[in-house]
Amino acid sequence: MSKMVGDNFADGIMALPSFPVVLVTVDQNIMTAAAFHFYSFNPASVMVGIKPDKYTHGLIQEKGEFGINIPTVDMLDKVQICGSLSGKNENKYAKAGLTPKRSNKIDSFIIAECPPVNLECKVVHRIEYEGSHSWFIGEIQQVHLAVNYVRDQALMFWLGQFRAVGGHLIEGADNSELFTVSFRGSEA
Ligand SMILES: Cc1cc2nc3c(=O)[nH]c(=O)nc-3n(C[C@H](O)[C@H](O)[C@H](O)COP(=O)(O)O)c2cc1C
Repeated sequence: MSKMVGDNFADGIMALPSFPVVLVTVDQNIMTAAAFHFYSFNPASVMVGIKPDKYTHGLIQEKGEFGINIPTVDMLDKVQICGSLSGKNENKYAKAGLTPKRSNKIDSFIIAECPPVNLECKVVHRIEYEGSHSWFIGEIQQVHLAVNYVRDQALMFWLGQFRAVGGHLIEGADNSELFTVSFRGSEA
């Protein structure tokens, strides 16, 4: 049985399960974001939602690029520091004890302590729609992926609750479309 919750349609958003936590790096700053999703396999691109009043918002607009760094559960304190201080006043690499690492294809740093996954992205589009977040679509220029990467240790967040991704339930779903990725120039 379901119930109607009246005119507050944001309740529908509050009810959503959880979102992946990423550390967005631009120039010399780091910002925690949970408004994050992949956008396309071909070209490989991701999207991140940043509120216009964030220091990071102006930096992304100025630089036209960002790094996506995937933290693990043992980095929760660093995630909270990067999600509460502003890079306008603080050096978050120093405050969180994180190490800036040179990127290959963008000017901005990526985070050395996030070896499972770092993505170097160029902004190709900003969604122009009046809402709480600006969504920047970034085409991936370079991927750093740890060889022993497992996603169980990744973090999720929503409404004040952090969760670990945890183990998977079944080995595979019976739908080949979910596994077949066609990349630019491939026949698949
Ligand atoms: C778990 C978590 C998730 C967050 N997700 C977002 C987000 O998706 N978009 C956003 O604009 N701010 C988000 N924030 C808030 C920013 O990270 C926070 O305001 C930060 O201090 C902004 O940094 P800046 O001023 O250096 O840009 C999140 C914070 C936390 C702790």
